Amino acid sequence: MSNKAWAIVPAAGAGRRMQSSIPKQYLSLAGSPVISHTLSRLSRHPAIAGIVVAVAEDDQTFDRVQLPENKSVVRVTGGQNRSDSVLNALDWLCEQPEIPDWVLVHDAARPCIRQSDLDQMFSVLRAHPVGGLLGMPITDTVKRTDANGQVIETICREQLWRAATPQMFRPQVLRQAISDASKQGLAITDEASAIEASGQQPQMVAGHNDNIKITVPADLALAEQFLQRQETA
Ligand code: CTP
Ligand code: MG
Repeated sequence: MSNKAWAIVPAAGAGRRMQSSIPKQYLSLAGSPVISHTLSRLSRHPAIAGIVVAVAEDDQTFDRVQLPENKSVVRVTGGQNRSDSVLNALDWLCEQPEIPDWVLVHDAARPCIRQSDLDQMFSVLRAHPVGGLLGMPITDTVKRTDANGQVIETICREQLWRAATPQMFRPQVLRQAISDASKQGLAITDEASAIEASGQQPQMVAGHNDNIKITVPADLALAEQFLQRQETA
């Protein structure tokens, strides 16, 4: 195994908010399944040596998906929550004879990731002691409400970010952080929060707004537009 970077792609979700009969990672986007775009974009990056994909235990679709031929793609079984799926993939990666320096965890549901955003992550984080994540600065005015929707306060948006993926960390450090956080019962919605809970500070790297996570039905058309625009840019 090359000691560069590997990617982990959590793809074991059911996509409930998408309200579709098949999980959103397998919906057709510009003629191929969402996950094919995601895997192809990751595999195209020269610093990424291989990809571990976590799929649901009863998944019968993944084996029919056309995979990138230029890099290794390994299938593992995902878990109940996204963090369990990532942990299963990290377990596989950390059992290999040569563990890569970095792992980039990237949602299967984010097929519009740009090569330039991956470049930017590697250039900012390559020499970073902890690692970090791609995010976008918040541009809207932010309010906090009570449970009835009554506005309590306006929150200064300076230095507030929306966290996206990839999230790039040292494989063994991330594995330990997620495993500790889940033992403590902490709700871990991204890798960075596990790293934060372990007392370390991830670096935020500014990415582009078109790196959307396909979540609700309208996002599919939006992603298709972004892919088209990226091709003609
Ligand atoms: N994921 C996973 N294992 C889980 C849950 C989610 O690997 N147990 C993956 C999803 O497949 C997706 C990514 O994590 O690629 C981001 O999660 P999300 O957008 O929440 O996807 P779903 O959980 O599938 O969607 P929903 O929450 O609407 O059910
Ligand atoms: Mg989910």
